[in-house]
Order: sequence, then structure tokens, then C-alpha cells
Amino acid sequence: MHLSGKKILLGVTGGIAAYKSVELLRLLQRQGAEVRVAMTPAATKFVGSLTFASLSGCPVYLQDGVPEARPFSHIDFPRWADLFIVAPCTANTLGKMACGIADDPVSLCFMTSLGEKWIVPAMNTAMYLSPAVQENMERLRSFPGVRFVEAASGKLACGESGVGRFPEPEEIVQTLLAAEESQTVTSNGKRVLITGGRTEEPIDPVRYISNRSSGKTAAALARAFRDAGYLVTLVHGPMEAEIPSGITSVFTRSAREMHTEVLARFPESDAVIHCAAVADYRPKTAANEKIKDSRGALTLELEANPHIFRDTAANKKAGQVIIGFALETEAPEKHALEKLKKSGADLIVLNTPVESSGGFGKDSVSFALLAAGENAPPLHLGKKSELAAEILSFVNRKLGVKNA
Ligand SMILES: Cc1cc2nc3c(=O)[nH]c(=O)nc-3n(C[C@H](O)[C@H](O)[C@H](O)COP(=O)(O)O)c2cc1C
Repeated sequence: MHLSGKKILLGVTGGIAAYKSVELLRLLQRQGAEVRVAMTPAATKFVGSLTFASLSGCPVYLQDGVPEARPFSHIDFPRWADLFIVAPCTANTLGKMACGIADDPVSLCFMTSLGEKWIVPAMNTAMYLSPAVQENMERLRSFPGVRFVEAASGKLACGESGVGRFPEPEEIVQTLLAAEESQTVTSNGKRVLITGGRTEEPIDPVRYISNRSSGKTAAALARAFRDAGYLVTLVHGPMEAEIPSGITSVFTRSAREMHTEVLARFPESDAVIHCAAVADYRPKTAANEKIKDSRGALTLELEANPHIFRDTAANKKAGQVIIGFALETEAPEKHALEKLKKSGADLIVLNTPVESSGGFGKDSVSFALLAAGENAPPLHLGKKSELAAEILSFVNRKLGVKNA
């Protein structure tokens, strides 16, 4: 099943076809997808949110509340999904999404989701053919990662006939399956799991411990492997760099969340590249309320986070390639070589945070690829895209994939 394990967020808006989204949800689940639902207030007048909550087994994201009481759940919720589909999509929601209005759960999820996005418009023919709707659809088609399941023609709920009908749920699923299939055909069949960005370890609901990683190297890696035909999954924390299209992105915030997501995907991956800047430590307890300023000294007790790199390297299967990053400020080669030896990884990418020569947030970096059983090359300055190309070439060699 090609949708097996796929995380799909179904956005339901206030059209007469909203009741058909119930069937769509069931069909997607039957294909092995995990489905969650977001609804506009108008949609809830057509179908009760309880129906979707019961069938999806998850609270529905509604106007008056987000399913998980977390400070950034309006961002986390859509980023959980690999794929966001708005079905049915009203003329009104089309207009909002095209113009950057995000005042309800569906248009907000559209703006913040990072995976592939599908739109299934459904409305009366006059609405569908109106210049505003046509223009909005045209605009949306030009957005990166946005695709349409086109409206069907035929008898409409209002009694008229014409274009604007909601396609049969089965047809929608077939379109998604065909799109998945075509991605698989162009791929080389190898799966690479990349971690990127930084983690955030909560101190209280508004503060956290983090670092300055921009995620640029991870984005460059994801692009390079995608373009080489790999099936790329990027498990990432917050990052400034744009997430490339055509990959599966999984958003995590803390090191523990990232650990869970990586370990779950690790067994099916041919190569794992640990590029994320994961916090080694987290506050032992995160306060439930914002810590008040008492002007006195404040001591934070820290405890160690799970070790994502070590836990994958230690369980490496034959033929799997594991790559770690080492950011060192002191005796860099010595420490990176120790890390390579101790972990059992295939490659350590040594990099140093020298401001003048690139590093955090810059496009270039000072790096050296230290491979097991090979002589260590000296540190040299290169673009992050060049670093990605060198890593790609190493993985290709290990997996027996021809360089493009
Ligand atoms: C009975 C009824 C059926 C409707 N069906 C549709 C429809 O199929 N498509 C559409 O774009 N709007 C339809 N509308 C209009 C929307 O409900 C209205 O524009 C609403 O504001 C959409 O809100 P939303 O986009 O936030 O869900 C219908 C309205 C009513 C009263």
C-alpha cells in the first residue's frame, strides 16, 4: 500500500460535499494512512466534528481550540502531516489560501504545513467559473508543493449541472496513489533519513534551551539526495532554511521527540545522516507556568537527552550507512576520529564553527569527511551544497548507486 504509514491531515471546509470527506477519511485509512482532521467553523455546520474525531481516533482541530494544549500547536499540528488535503475546498477557503489569510484552522494549516498540499475544490458552477475563483486557483497552482484534484463535471447538489462537483472519494484516493507511484518510479528505491535543524528543550511554556543551527546543511542534503533519486525523509526541529519540496518532512521540537521519530524510521532506511544539532541536555523538569522574575539566582538542573546518533549506530544493520556530524572547537580531528571509532558509524563529518570561514546560518562551512578505514583529509572551506554533494557521493559508493 503506497499510503501506508503516510500521515495525512484532512482539511474540511463548509461545502455541501463535506459529508463525503467522511468516506474519504475511511478510504485513506484503508490505504494504511494515519489521518487527522481540521475543520472550518462552516464545515461543522455540515458534519459534526465528533464524527471525524471518532473515526480518526484523534481530536479534531477546530476554531475554538487546538487538539493538544501546547503553545505552538497551530504550527506543530499541520507539521505532523506528510500530506495536507483540503477536501472539499470552498470558494471562500480557496480565496483565503491564495491571499495569505489564516483565520481558521484549515487556512492556517495550509499556511504552516510544510509537506505536499492538495486542494479539491467543490462548488456551484457559477462560483467555480467566477473570475475570482479562477484567478485564485491559478495563483495557488503556482505555489510550491500545491497540487489539485480537479473538480468533476455533472449534476450538482443544487440541482444544476456543470463543473464544480466534488470528485468521488475513490477517485481522489486514486489520484493520490498515482502521484505516489510516479514519485516511486523516478526514485532509485533507496531511502535516506536526514535529521536537521535544532532541538528546543522547554524550561517553561515560553522559554527553552536551544542552539544556533539554521538547518541549511540539512536542507542542502535533502535537496541533493532528492535530486539523485533517493526517497528522502527529513526529521527536523525548528530551522530557518526552507524545507525542500518533494520530500517527506517530519517536524519535531525536542530531542526526545526527534529520537522517537528517527528510531521509528531507522529500520527501513538505507542511509541515516545525523545533521541535526540535538541538545545533549534538557531541564530535568519544565515548569507548567512561566517562571516569574524574582531577580534572584535561578538554578536549572539538567539531565541527559537520549543519544539519537549512538542509538542508531549501535543498531546498524548490514548494508546500512550511518553518518554523524561532529562540531568541534578543540582538537577537532582527534575528537572526531574518536567519535568515528567509538560509534561504529561509516562517516563522521567534522565541522568547525569558525565565524570567518562560514558556519551557523552561513552558506559555507569548514569541514572534513572522516571515513572509517580511510586517511583523514584536512579541514577545508566549502559551500554547504558542496558538502552535501561529497556526502551523497560517499553514500552512493557505499550503497552501490551510480553517481549522476
Ligand atoms: C447549504 C449550503 C451549501 C453550500 N455549499 C457550498 C459549496 O459546495 N461550495 C462552496 O464553495 N461554498 C458553499 N457554501 C457557501 C459556504 O458555506 C460559505 O462560503 C462559507 O463561508 C464557507 O466557509 P469556509 O470556507 O470557512 O468553510 C454553501 C452554503 C450553504 C448555506
